[in-house]
Amino acid sequence: MEVLSVSHAFLMTEIMCFSILVVSCNHISLKGNSQSNFLFGTASSSYQFEGAFLNDGKSLNNWDVFSHKPGNILDGTNGDIAVDQYHLYQEDLDLMDYIGVNSYRFSISWARILPKGRFGKVNRAGIDHYNKLIDALLLRGIQPFVTLTHYDIPQELEDRYGAWLSPLLQEDFRYYADICFKFFGDRVKYWSTFNEPNVLAIRGYRSGIYPPSHCSLPFGNCISGDSEREPFIAAHNIILSHAAAVNVYRTKYQKKQEGSIGIVMNAVWYEPISSSLEDKLAAERAQSFYINWFLDPIVHGRYPAEMHELLGDDLPEFSMFDMEMLKNGLDFIGINHYTSFYSKDCMISPCEPGPGVSRTEGYALRTAQKDGIYIGEPTAVDWLYVHPQGMEKMVTYIKERYNNTPMFITENGYAEEANSNTTNEEQFNDVKRVEYMRSYLQALADTMRTKGADVRGYFVWSLLDNFEWTSGYTVQFGLHHVDNVTLKRTPRLSADWYRQFIVNNTLQILSAQE
Ligand code: NOJ
Repeated sequence: MEVLSVSHAFLMTEIMCFSILVVSCNHISLKGNSQSNFLFGTASSSYQFEGAFLNDGKSLNNWDVFSHKPGNILDGTNGDIAVDQYHLYQEDLDLMDYIGVNSYRFSISWARILPKGRFGKVNRAGIDHYNKLIDALLLRGIQPFVTLTHYDIPQELEDRYGAWLSPLLQEDFRYYADICFKFFGDRVKYWSTFNEPNVLAIRGYRSGIYPPSHCSLPFGNCISGDSEREPFIAAHNIILSHAAAVNVYRTKYQKKQEGSIGIVMNAVWYEPISSSLEDKLAAERAQSFYINWFLDPIVHGRYPAEMHELLGDDLPEFSMFDMEMLKNGLDFIGINHYTSFYSKDCMISPCEPGPGVSRTEGYALRTAQKDGIYIGEPTAVDWLYVHPQGMEKMVTYIKERYNNTPMFITENGYAEEANSNTTNEEQFNDVKRVEYMRSYLQALADTMRTKGADVRGYFVWSLLDNFEWTSGYTVQFGLHHVDNVTLKRTPRLSADWYRQFIVNNTLQILSAQE
């Protein structure tokens, strides 16, 4: 204990230094236009956090079923209990309170509200649960920032339709969204329809590593699917489902409830691997086949030109009616930004097989290395390299392409390997996570200050270690460590650092307002 407290004192000094470094640079226009309304939060999702997988009338969802199939999850675990936030939310609110966040991003479990989709009744117990959570958050001055679906849908709908492959699911989503706005919209001011629909479409329908496990060779080995076509059909239905939900919100609720609605995209920055025109165009295509794929239709009413050129008839078409409904179909863009990759042209000079090289991925090889050197320090997962410069480039790109639509950094975080052999010191003294957050926040602050990017909030992924999809519990993102057996939450250095960072920023904002 003695040793721990001495090192804790040392760590706190470090924390202060990190904070002072950021604040004293006087770059903190993290307040942006909306000054004191800037949201600092942590992010989560229902399947990764809640547990209680069949409690109080909830039915099975696609992830319940998928994670129970042997071989799908690296460590053979599932989200049946996860970190049991369904029961322990008051305790988690204490942790948030201590850190001083003013917002919490979480998602609603569709199967908890509508166990059978629109083919059954509303589950009152599910409504009650989220009412309690929302009220408890507001009581502590923490704004709920709510996602309607974070990869999970009632299994009933996956079985009926193959999930997002059917246009009929648009009506289900509209119906579900309407219920959420009706029951929770008097208190929820920030709605996002989907979390990372680009990842969902790619992993669910191209590589098949997420439910509904659709794919075809050489992209993956599944029982059924068509990796070259289905991702675009699923995405098309998701885009129209988003539009349907936004339409309901705008026509029935927004005026009275005075909230805003957007969508959250996974946003990887693609850096051209060389200064050649071919590689620059490849990076642009990579972006179009990843983010603009969704945001262009929602903001501009059409798919990116590169997608039309390369996909031809494989790209579904929007009707005139769709296009009208889609335009300006969001109030904000949620950006989940963690990492960057290099992008190399494969259209002019063909590449060996690899990620991104196919026609339906835009002929742009995605690689983490250039001349044998990583784009940033590797982490515990093969998709996350520390490259804070990407934050500035990504936010600037989205700002410019989408007319400086208000943005939120809805996720940013650092992965470490869960390893029972690590010492307490290694487990809790997460200096690499602190340095990651510090550098990415610094880049964000610079972008807001120098480019005038309208960023209105920042959420760390995540408050707690949790169920990391196909990696199970082998990877940890938490500001707090969670013991897998007792579920005890213990703060890491990064929790204290974030707390101090928020205090310093809040002081700055207040003094700027005087
Ligand atoms: C993005 C996803 O939204 C979230 O569910 C996931 O756990 C984190 N990234 C980390 O991979």
